[in-house]
Amino acid sequence: MTLPPTYNAPPFLQIARWILEPLEFMRSCQHRYGDCFRAEFGAGRHFYFLSDPKVIEQVLTANPANFDSGRANWILRPTVGDNSLLLLDGDRHQRHRQLLMPPFHGERMKAYGELICRLTEQVASQWPLNQPFATRPEIQKISLSIILQAVFGLTEGPRCDRLRSLMDALLKLTTSRFGFVMAFFPILQRDYGAWSPGRRFNQVMHQIDEELYAEIRERRHAFDPTRSDILTLLLAARDETGQPMTDVELRDELMTLLLAGHETTATAITWAIYWIHYLPAVKAKLLTELASLEKQPDLGAIVRLPYLNAICYETLRIYPIALITLPRILKVPMEIGGYQFEPESLLAPCIYLVHQRPDLYPEPTTFRPERFLERQFSPYEYFPFGGSNRRCIGAAFALYEMKLVLATLLTRYELTLAETKPVVPIRRGVTTAPKGGVKLIAKGQHSAVSTPIASLCQT
Ligand code: HEM
Repeated sequence: MTLPPTYNAPPFLQIARWILEPLEFMRSCQHRYGDCFRAEFGAGRHFYFLSDPKVIEQVLTANPANFDSGRANWILRPTVGDNSLLLLDGDRHQRHRQLLMPPFHGERMKAYGELICRLTEQVASQWPLNQPFATRPEIQKISLSIILQAVFGLTEGPRCDRLRSLMDALLKLTTSRFGFVMAFFPILQRDYGAWSPGRRFNQVMHQIDEELYAEIRERRHAFDPTRSDILTLLLAARDETGQPMTDVELRDELMTLLLAGHETTATAITWAIYWIHYLPAVKAKLLTELASLEKQPDLGAIVRLPYLNAICYETLRIYPIALITLPRILKVPMEIGGYQFEPESLLAPCIYLVHQRPDLYPEPTTFRPERFLERQFSPYEYFPFGGSNRRCIGAAFALYEMKLVLATLLTRYELTLAETKPVVPIRRGVTTAPKGGVKLIAKGQHSAVSTPIASLCQT
């Protein structure tokens, strides 16, 4: 049995392409080598990119104990730490997942609904009228406030303000292309003096840690079991030997949720706003659907709207925020898709390439929400949130937030696109996002009384 074809170029060129033009890199390799190819990203790190749904099904339905994933995410260690869900494997990973999943589902998740509408309104009401502004940073203000509330139960106060601006500074450092290069090559993370990015990174991380540890200490000292935020849950948790989580473990998980929980969702909402305003027919159809809501809809009615749902799905199909799932490192030899893989092979189910398959999605580069109304896709044909034991713990929460932010903005504000050319995706750290952040112009506010969501936005 053979190994998959290998992209034969010097590793530095492969890394450069993966950093600078990841979509083009994957498309051209798939075109040349087919649905399974091997790339090398230096230091003997071989990645097998997979884009055949049947093969991906084999990987995502195999016994999860046959794979590690956490140790493949070393690139995230300097920010989220060794005890992050993203870096854990095995039993510890499973235990932390069981702790962190429930707050992002069901009734616990729904408790954030009105807050999402209110925060959206608060941020959007500050937008300048008739002047272009970049959408992504504005949406990120909303999603960061939401996750701060979910994690700490805080939306205002000095610590919240400091954390907001520190997270902003951290993202500026880590999501630029240079930031990604820095993460790839740890030598660049060192402190080379006052103006080096390494120094700045360490300073920001130090300040964030001070805030997080201070919050953990205060909350441990005056523990209040009646609070419903995630820190309270984690403080109350005990492992099988009855031990609570240490401060370092808590810090790492808090940081993971803060980062993973707002950056991705902000990008997804920004893309959705772009597509809705780029395609007048999509906007018209969505507005008609939103207008069909009762004057005082419950949030469930908004979340169940089929066209709004299809827009969110199509947004995450056409340019998935994560291009690949977390890599799966094989722990045993395994035959997959007719190839024999050895232990330590890094498998990368490729979300972007599957979502662009014309046999599944005719005219794949066209934004057409209707495809999600016409047929159902399997979890190996459509998987913006990955799958199996590593599937995103915030998937339901992210979709909920996307829908409520979009519904609030669309019914309350008159917005137009201030882009003259189609917006394209570029790398933003480990994710991709719209280049330039999507420029919008706010033309005004719809009359508060006549919009169905107005009642939900009042403070
Ligand atoms: C549109 C928004 C989002 C997208 C597209 C997204 C996508 C993903 C993907 C593709 C994975 C890897 C899954 C795999 O390898 O199978 C993942 C993992 C993860 N996501 Fe999300 N995510 C989003 C929002 C969120 C939110 C809101 C949270 C926080 C609540 C979150 C927290 C996490 C965590 C902690 C993991 C690691 C799970 C593990 O290792 O077990 N994500 N996400």
